[in-house]
Amino acid sequence: MNRQRQTVVVVGLGYIGLPTASILATRGHTVIGVDVNEGTVRTINSGKIHIVEPDLDVLVRSAVNSGNLKAVTAPEEGDAFILAVPTPFVQESPGHEKVPDLSYIDAATRSIAPFLREGNLVILESTSPVGTTERIAGLIAELRPDLAQEGSGARKYLSVHLAHCPERVLPGHILRELVDNDRIIGGITRVAAEKARDLYKSFCNGGMHLTDARTAEMAKLVENSSRDVSIAFANELSMICDKLGINVWELIELANRHPRVNILQPGPGVGGHCIAVDPWFIVAAAPKEARLIRTAREVNDAKPHWVLDRVRAKAERFKDPVIGCLGLSFKANIDDLRESPAMEITLELIRSGVGRVMACEPNIEGGRGDLPLHEMDEVLREADILLVLVDHEEFKDIDRELLKEKVVIDTRGVWR
Ligand SMILES: NC(=O)c1ccc[n+]([C@@H]2O[C@H](COP(=O)([O-])OP(=O)(O)OC[C@H]3O[C@@H](n4cnc5c(N)ncnc54)[C@H](O)[C@@H]3O)[C@@H](O)[C@H]2O)c1
Repeated sequence: MNRQRQTVVVVGLGYIGLPTASILATRGHTVIGVDVNEGTVRTINSGKIHIVEPDLDVLVRSAVNSGNLKAVTAPEEGDAFILAVPTPFVQESPGHEKVPDLSYIDAATRSIAPFLREGNLVILESTSPVGTTERIAGLIAELRPDLAQEGSGARKYLSVHLAHCPERVLPGHILRELVDNDRIIGGITRVAAEKARDLYKSFCNGGMHLTDARTAEMAKLVENSSRDVSIAFANELSMICDKLGINVWELIELANRHPRVNILQPGPGVGGHCIAVDPWFIVAAAPKEARLIRTAREVNDAKPHWVLDRVRAKAERFKDPVIGCLGLSFKANIDDLRESPAMEITLELIRSGVGRVMACEPNIEGGRGDLPLHEMDEVLREADILLVLVDHEEFKDIDRELLKEKVVIDTRGVWR
């Protein structure tokens, strides 16, 4: 096993790149962290962090103080390059289809291309559509013809090694999961996968599963799509049960008594920047075949509108309804609002003027832009309609006596 110290260039210092860069630095590698955001680079070089993740501040400080991690705005030469840049959708696509935006990956590839040397390892960590690692290889071959070697037939080989190693860490537990999780390592060649495995072994205790790059890309997309389809089933059930006058929470609890049934819990939709995004990468690549995956996305995306309709129907009973929205984050006990259905519902209630909206998010202090936040007690006192959008611990302990006079819409089954 090769555990030599290497110079590793990590491109993109966000939720994924910064913990990875810091952990590599604390394991003795020389790490050059690259980010186009000058503020991010300054913050990191001062030993601080610009994102919320438990214990990351301590790790970054120690990595920077050791002299093994420095942040810069443009790449330099190294032995290995890790790309951890965003992979969102194209904002304005024709036909409003959800098309993956690979511009960040292309830009990152272009930025490292001049610094690549024969024998270097390039690892794509961003969640990517199938074929993206090959696309990077093609771009490097174009930009650096000196690194392309003629293979058999028309095939060209690069003298740099390329692999895709998807990241599967859970926000809030990133530092533990970076070390403990198994890794899927897909090389364009077997040698590339083996080289990537050797680098990950310097900080990762989980199993290393070697495969080709396309399978690794698909594995990550499939993991999130599988979750999305399962949640869509639960969300669909919640709407069917509402129509049929059945308590969905009790129903799921009973059905899950079957030894081979495990239905997930419904909610107000699906949020976060992974499960709500990645399935579309499969749909975009195989639109005719990915029928179930597309439908699951549509079911989950439609759920906030169903919740909104229910609130509107209840609000009609009041002259000046006060609607208390409990929770804004995309899941319980975190402060992350990205792609949050709770946020979408709350903002839409405000926009459409259904009533006076009082939002409460115990994990965020103050307010967020033009959305003022209220204390839980205040919301419980003043609201006519209580809309539970997130199953935060704080809400579970609310005295049921306080709910007696209220209309309750509990999208998470907190007070089931
Ligand atoms: N955050 C997660 O929990 C998570 C989990 C698994 C996978 N992923 C995937 O990892 C990838 C990165 O996600 P993230 O959450 O770290 O994103 P992020 O937005 O937190 O960080 C990305 C960083 O890349 C920088 N950047 C953009 N273009 C650049 C360029 N050309 N050169 C250098 N820096 C550049 C940005 O300034 C930003 O700091 C995405 O593909 C995401 O889907 C994220």
